[in-house]
Amino acid sequence: MTVASLAAVAYLAAAILFILSLAGLSKQATARRGNLMGMAGMGIAIAATVALALDTSERPWGVTLGLIVAVLAIGATIGTWRARTVEMTQMPELIALLHSFVGAAAVLIGFNSYLTEGHDAMHLIEVFLGVFIGAVTFTGSIVAFLKLSARISGSPLTLPGRHALNLGALVACGALMAWFLVAPSVWPLALMTVIALAVGWHMVAAIGGGDMPVVVSMLNSYSGWAAAAAGFMLGNDLLIVTGALVGASGAILSYLMCKAMNRKFLAVILGGFGGESSPSSTTADAVGEHRSTSASGVAQKLATARSVVIAPGYGMAVAKAQYPVAQLVSRLRERGVEVRFAVHPVAGRLPGHMNVLLAEARVPYDIVLELDEINDDFSSTDVVLVIGANDTVNPAALDDPGSPIAGMPVLHVWEAESVVVFKRSMATGYAGVQNPLFFKDNTEMLFGDAKDQVEAILAAVGAADAVVA
Ligand code: TAP
Repeated sequence: MTVASLAAVAYLAAAILFILSLAGLSKQATARRGNLMGMAGMGIAIAATVALALDTSERPWGVTLGLIVAVLAIGATIGTWRARTVEMTQMPELIALLHSFVGAAAVLIGFNSYLTEGHDAMHLIEVFLGVFIGAVTFTGSIVAFLKLSARISGSPLTLPGRHALNLGALVACGALMAWFLVAPSVWPLALMTVIALAVGWHMVAAIGGGDMPVVVSMLNSYSGWAAAAAGFMLGNDLLIVTGALVGASGAILSYLMCKAMNRKFLAVILGGFGGESSPSSTTADAVGEHRSTSASGVAQKLATARSVVIAPGYGMAVAKAQYPVAQLVSRLRERGVEVRFAVHPVAGRLPGHMNVLLAEARVPYDIVLELDEINDDFSSTDVVLVIGANDTVNPAALDDPGSPIAGMPVLHVWEAESVVVFKRSMATGYAGVQNPLFFKDNTEMLFGDAKDQVEAILAAVGAADAVVA
């Protein structure tokens, strides 16, 4: 058996593990197993690739191994440090930055492949497309990172004639590809790279902050296709399979997120939306009087409730309130109260954000329900606790066609007998839209940090239980 045939078997095993990993990640209960499979697949893939590199190296193998170990050590050190220090809420910006590395790698591999290998038509097409996708992904991801980390403004850049500019750039790249195929030289490749870098930058700059999560997932998809293109150039089957898995899953996730935010995918990609808000009765102006309550008032309300639904949002993540929330839930369940969570698909700042936090706090999976599963049950619910959620529980999405979030599916929390909203002020949420929920007759506001307030409720519930005992 040669090293090459062993590596081929290892690649096949890694590809199967990656597919099983994706399947595992699709459900919370199997997500940990999915992650382990992904890690095992990547371990096997790296080992096989290093073995192949050593086997085919033209340099003394010690030098090749030394170089590989050096880059792995640098990458692993930086990666481990970033992954350990990143806050959950900064995850999208970290992911955007990581995508830019994939894009840059595809560009470098493309140029290297062109300069060191044969020039048959198929190979030239692979190089050209790989470099194009890589360059768009590179600058697009950098702009997404800068916007998400608030290093540049999140509002969309709307250059006059921007669609014509994009179209012109694509036509120019098409012409350069024809030149590249007919008379291969580094010039058309380099010119296209400059145009593609500008297209990536402009495309994401034109997208508003509100649509950034979709853009990150779209760039995730692009980075997958860039990796697949690199796989073709390097003749590496595993990179092709892995790139296609990432490309396809990123595209599906983008589609699902667009649906959950009621955005048209094309409208997001073509940009200029996301940061706009049309004049409407529900922009940042107040729309009536609100009532506020106290932690002990909420504890009293919970004392007589038979069914409680908790709608968590970004504020719960910021306050790190999931731990006392989980304690409150188990206390209520011990008393025989039916408690469930209503998780909106874009609650928080990244897909699955709330699910991750609740799993972290060991909330049982079977009481964490999705929007479609629970939306009809609010009318038969006694108390809804909206903990740091805002846009995802905004009735204006249904009632006000002029609202920037009109048409976005939302949790119908206002249908419950009584609603308590945990937040620090009357400020708007991510979309910058006022929320008529706060002014409804059955809504009370509990102002303050969500964690402090849930802890205060826990204390009040505990004191009441002690008196009864
Ligand atoms: P948001 O609408 O962003 O509202 C969060 C609320 O939490 C704010 O109104 C804020 O009010 C409150 N808050 C902040 N810190 C708090 C604290 N320490 N204690 C208590 N409350 C606190 O949240 P949402 O309902 O989760 O909606 C998510 C929004 O983000 C949607 O518009 C969605 O489209 C967008 N988005 C989603 C994603 C994904 S994929 N999930 C990614 C990016 C953007 P105060 O300031 O008054 O406290």
